[in-house]
Amino acid sequence: MKYKRVLVKFSGEALSGDSGFGIDVNVLQYIANEIKTLRDNDIEVGIVIGGGNIIRGVSAAQGGIIRRTSGDYMGMLATVINAVAMQEALEHSGIDVRVQSALEIKEICESYIYRRAIRHLEKGRVVIFGAGTGNPFFTTDSAATLRAVEIGADVIIKATKVDGVYDKDPHKFADAKMLDSLSYDEALRDHIKVMDDTAIALAKDNKLPILVCNMFKKGNLVNLLKYNEGVCSIVH
Ligand code: GTP
Repeated sequence: MKYKRVLVKFSGEALSGDSGFGIDVNVLQYIANEIKTLRDNDIEVGIVIGGGNIIRGVSAAQGGIIRRTSGDYMGMLATVINAVAMQEALEHSGIDVRVQSALEIKEICESYIYRRAIRHLEKGRVVIFGAGTGNPFFTTDSAATLRAVEIGADVIIKATKVDGVYDKDPHKFADAKMLDSLSYDEALRDHIKVMDDTAIALAKDNKLPILVCNMFKKGNLVNLLKYNEGVCSIVH
């Protein structure tokens, strides 16, 4: 097996299905089942989920009434809502899960303690990291990269609706080409859309590979991670 411990990052919008807002329970359960296939293959899994299906800090702040800092804290709270929802769906699939939050919300979940997170992973529990990094001005991609480095993940999986990284926007350009592999420097130079520069720079500093793949192809995650089969892009 290639990967023993992974951090899976996906956006909050992924949970919203076609509506683009809130949580579609069918999608939630689909993703939980995909995560379960990783656990069934003894891969240790940490998860970071965005919050954009509920609120985006940057957009909330656009009207000038809500300050960016407050918008970002609102977004962090949104990620905790998604984390709790995913915990429920994973437990429904028979997976042990612990949610750890970067902001203390002790009535709802544990607080983030990295040594405890690692212990949970070692015991076969999925750990969902909520509330981003706990700081405004950082994206959940950066939070995911930070947590991946902290827990010693072998790879960060950026699970998306597209197959990987393209040389241009595949929705706009019919001749967009997917890249199987690119360096951190190429990803930074081209400001690839799938992950922000802060997250890529942190991954680069820590030699953490970023695997970009489509989570909505059933079985794709486990095929990539266990059998090294399937379509994805690797930033390394
Ligand atoms: P072990 O120590 O390995 O047995 O792990 P554990 O997580 O099962 O033990 P613990 O007794 O710490 O936790 C039992 C349950 O309480 C788990 O579902 C935890 O997620 C939850 N829990 C632990 N600490 C907190 C907390 O500060 N707040 C909330 N809301 N739940 C907590």
